Amino acid sequence: MSIPIIIDCDPGHDDVFAIWLAAGNPNIDLRAITTVAGNGRIEHTTHNALVACTVAGIRDVPVARGASGPLKGELRPAEWIHGANALGGPVLPAPTIELDDRDAVTLIADVLTASEEPVVLVPTGPLTNIAHLVQRHPELVSKIEGLIWMGGSTGRGNVSPYAEFNAWADPEAADIVLRSGVDFTMVGLNISHQALITREVRARIAALDSPLAAFGVELLEYFCSTYEQFEGMPDGPLHDPITVAMLAEPSVATSVRTRIDVECEGTQTRGATCVDLLNFLQRPANATVALDLDVERFWSLIEDAVTALGRVSA
Ligand code: RIB
Ligand code: CA
Repeated sequence: MSIPIIIDCDPGHDDVFAIWLAAGNPNIDLRAITTVAGNGRIEHTTHNALVACTVAGIRDVPVARGASGPLKGELRPAEWIHGANALGGPVLPAPTIELDDRDAVTLIADVLTASEEPVVLVPTGPLTNIAHLVQRHPELVSKIEGLIWMGGSTGRGNVSPYAEFNAWADPEAADIVLRSGVDFTMVGLNISHQALITREVRARIAALDSPLAAFGVELLEYFCSTYEQFEGMPDGPLHDPITVAMLAEPSVATSVRTRIDVECEGTQTRGATCVDLLNFLQRPANATVALDLDVERFWSLIEDAVTALGRVSA
């Protein structure tokens, strides 16, 4: 029985691989893709989601455009990592997938309403759309099986000493979603920095020998180049697909129930996910946090999905 999911994303190099893993893995039933501003402006992340589907031959999944900025403050795109168009590197083909007429929140609400079974939400960008959803449609929280988010960190940040980009981009949204009552899982930098795109990984994907694999390698090469230049990491971390991998094969990662609070006020710490792993504050657990990744199994899942999609999209 495949797991019904909706991906809400800000493509973004690693978001593209999350989409491909969801579409290419038999344990996942990708019902919809929605976009949010984050890595880039909404017009770029939306265009890139359509490109990700076009190159992979994903033609039966509705794609809808979402929020163009955070609940509070201004959009600050991660152009230094993802490029001015949020998907730097390869020449992007013109999308052949049409954008859905609905906005992101309407599409998610429609999918949740129409689904016989609850659906898992997989946000891999700022949580702006999901915050709008739970505020506008509180009655649909019961149709959300769970939410597994790439964001936050049990340790240091990547855009400030203590804040990870997706949390930092819209901390108010993260706080609202965390308090909404959804079954919340955090896939933070503490685990995503185990998914390093080594030269060996790039060679393995190149060896899949399909136009899709070649496009994917161009994305990875660009992503690694900017990570080396700006983060001092020659092997960039492929953050977002870990969310989908954990749904497709739960044994791919370990996790623990714990307490998370999002810092929305701190002068130095705004956007930090305060994860009380040692329960210093003796507050009830409110989330599951991913800890350790089976790295080899993770990359095998990525390769299998690119292989499966590469056959249909050639
Ligand atoms: O901090 C990493 C996260 O920010 C990833 O989701 C990446 O795509 C960016 O959105
Ligand atoms: Ca992302």
